[in-house]
Formats: sequence, C-alpha cells, structure tokens
Amino acid sequence: SKINNGSVKWESPSNIALVKYWGKKEHQIPENPSISFTLSDCKTITEINFTKKDLITKATSGLSFDIYFEGNKNEAFKPKIQTFFERIETYMPFLRDYHFKIETSNTFPHSSGIASSASGMSAIALCLMSIERLLSDVEISEKAFNQKASFLARLGSGSACRSIEGELVVWGKNESIAESSDLYGVKFEGEVHSNFNNFQDTILLVDKGEKQVSSTVGHQLMYGHPFAETRFEQAHTNLAALKAILASGDLDEFIKIVESEALTLHAMMMTSMPYFILMKPNTLEIINKIWEFREKTNSKVCFTLDAGANVHVLYPQNESKSVLEFIKNELISYCQNEHYICDKIGFGANQV
Ligand code: PMV
Repeated sequence: SKINNGSVKWESPSNIALVKYWGKKEHQIPENPSISFTLSDCKTITEINFTKKDLITKATSGLSFDIYFEGNKNEAFKPKIQTFFERIETYMPFLRDYHFKIETSNTFPHSSGIASSASGMSAIALCLMSIERLLSDVEISEKAFNQKASFLARLGSGSACRSIEGELVVWGKNESIAESSDLYGVKFEGEVHSNFNNFQDTILLVDKGEKQVSSTVGHQLMYGHPFAETRFEQAHTNLAALKAILASGDLDEFIKIVESEALTLHAMMMTSMPYFILMKPNTLEIINKIWEFREKTNSKVCFTLDAGANVHVLYPQNESKSVLEFIKNELISYCQNEHYICDKIGFGANQV
C-alpha cells in the first residue's frame, strides 16, 4: 500500500453473558453457544498509530508494537497482545509491515474485577479492521467488516467476539439461531419484547482483586469434566428457551434461565478438578437479598455472575428507581469500598 502511516480509534464495550460460554476447543472454538447483553458505559477506548517499517526493519523485526495503558507504557499486556497478533497474522498480512503504537484506556477502574478482555480485545480488532480498510482498495460492507472484526476479536478472547454489536449477541452454532456461528458473534435478530428495552445492569464490586482463575485455566477445566456434555447440551436448550422468552417478554422465565446459568457456571468450577469457589460470602449475601426483595416486592430484578465474585444486578428500566434504592440501602455494604457501577444494555462499538 502507498499509505505509510496513520491512526485509528475505536471505543468498544464490555458484555455480560446470559447463557454462558464455558469450555472451548482448539482455535477458540466454543464448546457451547452463548448470548450476551452488550453493555453501554463499561468500555475500552483504543487508538492505534501505524507506521510503515523501512525495508531493513521489516526484514529483521517480527511483529512490532508498543502498548500504552492509561498513558503509561505497559509491558504486562504485551504477551497477550503478542499471542493475539500471532493468531491473527494470517488474516491480516499487513501486520508484519507496520509498527503499531497501541494506546488504550478503560472507562471503568482498572482493578475492579471487571474483565477488560472483551472490550480491550474487540477494540484492538476493530482498529486493525479500520487500518486494513485504509490500506485496501476494496470496499467492505458493514456486515462483512463487523463479522471479521468479531472473528478476530474471538482470537484475542472468546467473549470479545460478542462486543462488536448490540444489543444482544449470539456466539456459537445453535439450531434456533439461523445465522449463528462458532467463528464470530452475530447480532440477535429475533423479536425482543419492550420489557428488555434499556435493560439495566448494576455491577456490584464485591472483590476487586486479581482473578483467582484465569479464563484460560477455567475453560480447560471443562476437559474431561464429569458433567461437561450435559452442560453443553443445556446451554443449547437454554438459548432456544431464551429466544422465546425475549420475544414474549416473560420476565419470570427470564430470571429462571439467567440465574440458573450463573449458578451453573459456578457449579462447573466447583465440580471440576482442581475445584474452585469463586463466589465470596458477600456474593451469597447479595444473592439472598435479591431473592428476599423479589419475594417481598414482586420485582423482576435478578442477578448474574462472571467467573468471579462480582454480581451483575439486572432489571427492567421501569424498576430503576426502586431497585437502585434497594441496591443503595441493602446491597452496597457488601461491596468493596461500597463500589458499584451503573450500566445498561448498549448498541456496540463506535469509531471515534
Ligand atoms: O472470553 P473469556 O475466555 O475470558 O471467557 C469468559 C467466560 C465467561 O465470562 C465466564 C462467560 C461468558 O460467556 O462471558
């Protein structure tokens, strides 16, 4: 290409799975399908500057990049990005010809226990897609652009492939979702009832520490897991059921699937070898309080969990006032430094 340098910038959100991805095959292929809400405010903002290498540098250096996290050069992220670049090099041949300066920051606090891999990896994937578009003479449709961005993001972190679009994204082949694929996430195109409009997610930061189990280790625990096959089947069933629930707007049924998925994810960790308990006592306190509140008030609030102790509190927009009051009065005392983040369902990544 004639272009020697330039810069691109994207902001890409985190996402929260309703049906969980847990277990993968080689090449980041999921063992089961998953579906997530794209978040709105928890985002990574990434700018990539690219400069063409001269011929000598090109011949002698491999993949070449620097990372700045929140203004400071960061060595800790390098191995992950190196692995990511190596995985995607065959799909992005220009990677060897340029040096990249990656500058990234998050809208949420760094050590909050909120996984930044989904937003972070998808933001890089989108920047690289924009660079590819700049360097190429061939037009690419938005659909093809998003699909390849998701495909690349998957190779950075599985769940990252669900962060390109909103508001709901399916990843993993499933019979009830015609366009679904193991290779990339697809926007959920089924009917969605207005009960889910602007659905809220308040994230309670119970434990801001480093993850006890990395997701790489976590997924491996599903190899030879005694309940693996049943679990993978269940994810298919739950996704098909959820599709119908999203259309009907039946919030009681929604709660059953979502909470069961969260507890099943943790049950898988408790019944693997080695075994882990990633919930903290305060996680359970919060879950019990949510159940009590639902009994008392007829609220449709529910919870979900990632592979950690934090709790995502999900609720319809029309309950915002009462649920936030409940959270402030009864739940935030279980959070580290009373820290929580208000987010909601979002529409996907944006170029800035
Ligand atoms: O994308 P990974 O490899 O970090 O896996 C994330 C898995 C869960 O967050 C626990 C569930 C999910 O579907 O997002």
